[in-house]
Amino acid sequence: MEKDSGVGEEEYTSYEPEDSVPRDDAVNGGFVPVIVITGASSGIGEAIALQYASSRACQLVLAARSRDKLKAVAIKCRKLGCEVAIIPTDVSKPKQCKFLIKETIRIFGRLDYLVLNAGVSMHIAFEELKDLEIFHKLIDTNYFGYVYTTHFALPFLRKSPQPKIVVIGSLSGETGVPLRTGYCGSKFAVNGFFEALRTELGPAVPITIVSPGYVDTEIRQNAYGPKDFNPASGGMMSPKRCAELIVEAADQRRRKVVLTLSGKLAYALRPFVPDIIDMLVKRKAHQKKKAAL
Ligand SMILES: NC(=O)c1ccc[n+]([C@@H]2O[C@H](COP(=O)([O-])OP(=O)(O)OC[C@H]3O[C@@H](n4cnc5c(N)ncnc54)[C@H](OP(=O)(O)O)[C@@H]3O)[C@@H](O)[C@H]2O)c1
Repeated sequence: MEKDSGVGEEEYTSYEPEDSVPRDDAVNGGFVPVIVITGASSGIGEAIALQYASSRACQLVLAARSRDKLKAVAIKCRKLGCEVAIIPTDVSKPKQCKFLIKETIRIFGRLDYLVLNAGVSMHIAFEELKDLEIFHKLIDTNYFGYVYTTHFALPFLRKSPQPKIVVIGSLSGETGVPLRTGYCGSKFAVNGFFEALRTELGPAVPITIVSPGYVDTEIRQNAYGPKDFNPASGGMMSPKRCAELIVEAADQRRRKVVLTLSGKLAYALRPFVPDIIDMLVKRKAHQKKKAAL
C-alpha cells in the first residue's frame, strides 16, 4: 500500500498555527505542554489529538503523510481552543522525523510529550504471501518510525520540566495473532525497544506503553494484503474511548496498560496457559473474519 502523500525526501512544508485561541484552563498546575502526535491524520491518533485539545490547554503538532487529512484534524482541534501546527511526515524516513522535531522546536520552542502512534497493519497468512517487501514496510513504519522520532526528540524531552513518551503498541505486540505475522513482529519489537529504553531513562522521561485491542478505525482497510477483505466493525472500542484511556494512562504515568478485559486476561494468563490463549486468539480472529463475510 503506497500512499501518495505528497511528502518527498526533499519536500518538507509545515503549517504554522493560525486562528487559534489558546485556552487558559490548564491542567498540571498551569503547565501547557507541546505535544507531538504521529499518525494524527485519522483513527486513534486523531482521537488522541481531540482528547488533548478538549481536556487541557496545550500546543499540538500533528504529523502523518496526508496533509489534507491533517488540515481537517487541525481545524477540529483549533475549534476546541488549541494552537496547532501540522507537519506532513513519513515516519519511515529518518530525515523527515528529524525535520518533524526540528520544526516543532522552531515553531513552539519546546517539546514535552511525544505520542508515537503512526502505524500500518497486514491481513494475510504468511504462506500466502508473495511479496516479502511487506515485512520491510511494516517494520520501517511501525518500529523504525518510533525509534527515529524518539531519537531526535529525546534531547528536547530531556529539557522539558514534565516530559512523557506515549507509545501506542497493540495486543499484537503481546501475543501472536493469525494473519498478522509481520505486524506482530513490528509491535513486539516496539515493546522490546521501549522496555529497554525505560531502563536507560528511568523516571527522567516516563514511558507509557498502551496496548489497545480491536479499535474501530481504518487500520484494517489500510492493511497490507488482499483488498477484497471487508473487515467487520462490530464489537470494537471507539477511537474516542481508546484515546480517553490512553491520555488517562499517560497522565497517571503508567508503565504499561492493556486496554480490554480479554486483552488483560490474555496478557496475564499467557505465561501459564499459552496453548489455550493461542487457541482463543485464533478463534476470535476467525470469528471477526467470518462476521466480515
Ligand atoms: N485499530 C486497532 O484495532 C488498533 C489496535 C491496536 C493498536 N493499534 C495501533 O494504533 C495506531 C493507530 O492506528 P489506527 O487504528 O488509528 O489506524 P489508522 O486509522 O489507519 O491510522 C493510522 C495513522 O498512521 C498514519 N501513518 C501510516 N503510515 C505512516 C507513515 N509511514 N508515516 C506517517 N504516518 C503514517 C496514518 O496517516 P497517513 O496515512 O496520512 O500517513 C494514520 O494517521 C497504530 O500504531 C496501530 O498499530 C490499532
